[in-house]
Amino acid sequence: MKKAKQYSFLLEETKSLINKDVDDIANMANLSRLLYERLSHHWIGFYRVIKDQLILGPFNGPIACTSIAFGKGVCGKSWQHKKTYIVNDIHQFDGHIACSPLSNSEIVVPCIRNNHVFAVLDIDSTKLSMFDHEDQYYLEKIVALL
Ligand code: SME
Repeated sequence: MKKAKQYSFLLEETKSLINKDVDDIANMANLSRLLYERLSHHWIGFYRVIKDQLILGPFNGPIACTSIAFGKGVCGKSWQHKKTYIVNDIHQFDGHIACSPLSNSEIVVPCIRNNHVFAVLDIDSTKLSMFDHEDQYYLEKIVALL
């Protein structure tokens, strides 16, 4: 299936999955599982902004680091600059935080509400250059539903 078609389905599934009557953790738990099942990447999960740190939230995949400082790693930079980062080769990214030796590329999408980043969605792949602007386009639409 073409990526755009797969993401269009996923967007619709996300719309029916997100429940505005429950908290972010419940929705992130279901959404991380849905993305993991549909996209089959190595690690998919959320880090939530708690005070001055990103703290590990709901995820699927191997055990990961539990806290990331503002501006550190790909996640901390996405939080700092309020923008999506696509990293084709994490070994070339200055300051990358390695949680799994199997990861080779990564996309981090900030989750923004009222102009504030409240979390980031992080997806890691074992393949180099796995993510492109099509992933960015749809993943930004998906996290906007939170
Ligand atoms: N690689 C991330 C850290 C989180 S793990 O990949 C799950 C980073 O550099 O921010």
